[in-house]
Amino acid sequence: MRVAFLLLFVVVVSAADLEWWKTALIYQIYPRSFKDSNGDGIGDLNGITEKLPYLKETGVDAIWLSPIYLSPMYDFGYDITDYREIAPEYGTMDDFKRLLSEAKKLGIRVVLDYVPNHTSNESDWFIRSANRESGYEDYYVWTDGVNDTATGELKPPNNWVSQFRKSAWEFNSARGQYYLHQFVIGQPDLNYRNDKVQQEMKDVLRFWLDLGVSGFRVDAVNRLYEADPRNYGGRYPDEPLSGINGTVPDDYEYLNHIYTQDLNETYDVVYNWRDVLDEYIAIQGEYKIMMTEAYTDLNNMIRYYGTNTRNGSIPFNFSFLGDINSSSNAWDIKVVIDKWMTYMPNGKTANWVNGNHDQSRLASRQGLERVDAMNMLALILPGVAITYQGEEIGMTDGYVSWEDTKDPQACNTDDNINYYKKSRDPSRTPYHWDSSNNAGFSDTTGKTWLPVAENYRTVNLAKQMNDPKSHYQFYKDVVQVRRNAAVREGDLDTRALSEFVLVVTRLLPNYPGVLGVVNLSEKSQELDLSSLQLLPDNLKVVASGVSCTTEKGATMKKSNVPISGHCALLFESNGCLRLQPYIVLCIFLYLISHLI
Ligand code: GLC
Repeated sequence: MRVAFLLLFVVVVSAADLEWWKTALIYQIYPRSFKDSNGDGIGDLNGITEKLPYLKETGVDAIWLSPIYLSPMYDFGYDITDYREIAPEYGTMDDFKRLLSEAKKLGIRVVLDYVPNHTSNESDWFIRSANRESGYEDYYVWTDGVNDTATGELKPPNNWVSQFRKSAWEFNSARGQYYLHQFVIGQPDLNYRNDKVQQEMKDVLRFWLDLGVSGFRVDAVNRLYEADPRNYGGRYPDEPLSGINGTVPDDYEYLNHIYTQDLNETYDVVYNWRDVLDEYIAIQGEYKIMMTEAYTDLNNMIRYYGTNTRNGSIPFNFSFLGDINSSSNAWDIKVVIDKWMTYMPNGKTANWVNGNHDQSRLASRQGLERVDAMNMLALILPGVAITYQGEEIGMTDGYVSWEDTKDPQACNTDDNINYYKKSRDPSRTPYHWDSSNNAGFSDTTGKTWLPVAENYRTVNLAKQMNDPKSHYQFYKDVVQVRRNAAVREGDLDTRALSEFVLVVTRLLPNYPGVLGVVNLSEKSQELDLSSLQLLPDNLKVVASGVSCTTEKGATMKKSNVPISGHCALLFESNGCLRLQPYIVLCIFLYLISHLI
């Protein structure tokens, strides 16, 4: 009997460990800006460990840490000197192990950023490769420059442009050749046509998996390959012009990136990484998540999910970032949601991203009045929800002057007036813990690495924790409801009842249904939801956004649902969608109709 009980326990535990990722709430931490524990003005690992209880209380399942590795920080950690070392300004390997074990105790999984496209130009591999050390010659994308016939000057091999502006090629005098860098000069692109590079990068995955991390977010994955010069007479071919008005040759948008993005070879590499991760299911009894970052069209995107024979990743769904703005109406938002669900291959896991460290913040991009609505949608739609630190309290973009600007994408504009259009610093300003000095982020007497946004005294976590009517409380309430069976497994129904009203229903037979209603207009509305036939009649409010006048606990009939302007309301049905009696009725009617 005891053995049977134990076996049952093991089965239940391992099922949870294998399924956790399918409905995970993943919280993205930008370590530099989360919490500074040692007063140097820069966030660090011990700061994160200190705040884990808060994340637990919020209901987060996993944290994804933006890069924590040794780096000269030209691109704030996305330029990695050593994939196996921790950046000293963030702490030590022991600090990381402590973070991991404290998180584990709280039931929070740790997901790391994996940056496979490029290293730092200070990495050992790059230095060896630049010196043509045997075995390392082809670790990077090297090629000769071209001689300008008129001036005799040596020029880059072709017209390719870095994401951060200007030529994507940099001359290395030790080697006497140019290397490719799709991002900053200090981020040389690895050469994925070299099997040794592929092997090295798999070993990096294994190193962190062995330490017990629960998966990876894969950076800039659609940049892994470039056109093979062997198919173009030994040259890397020029990319065609995009024809976009107002762009100049130094701008990334000037070209159509057909030879540097989304190459067919990319997908197999991702599937191979997936295989490495899958080895650990047996070793550690836990599914390891892989989420890939590629800003690309939907057809390319869904290929990351895998094929009939290969497992893949969860491609980040950036449609909430790119396809919805402050003037999108309920019809637009419905279309955006339905589009992902339509294209996503059957049986795969959806995901919803409301912000990250590269994008303007939700509150600034879509307006403060939509924060609750968008947070709620991401949390009640099927699949994985990803929250960037600060979106749960409605942080806005901070102001960062040209003098304080750190982001290479902004600095490379060389334009002290328009730099902000490219700058990612505003969404990376320190987290607002409370209204004390530096928003409780750091007790430094000097400057924090980026200035704290001015509104921290009014927008901060401590204040919102004490305020039942706050973005944070609403977020937390919705996260609670997210645990319902209907949100985990129920069918999805999205309806735009008008230009202003969006309704999302999650129904599962024999469980209470969940219904999210969003009013995008400033006017109150009286809704009749009777057209949602499968939704039980009686509804109870389980989360009420900051603009709502109806409070948590209120009950109403679906035929009469009042909703105030800019309000996001979450309901649970009192009573379940029950199928069994109807099945009996159906069989009865079927028999009658066939007997007559
Ligand atoms: C990704 C990261 C971004 C970084 C770039 C280069 O897009 O999110 O922050 O600058 O890759 O690594």
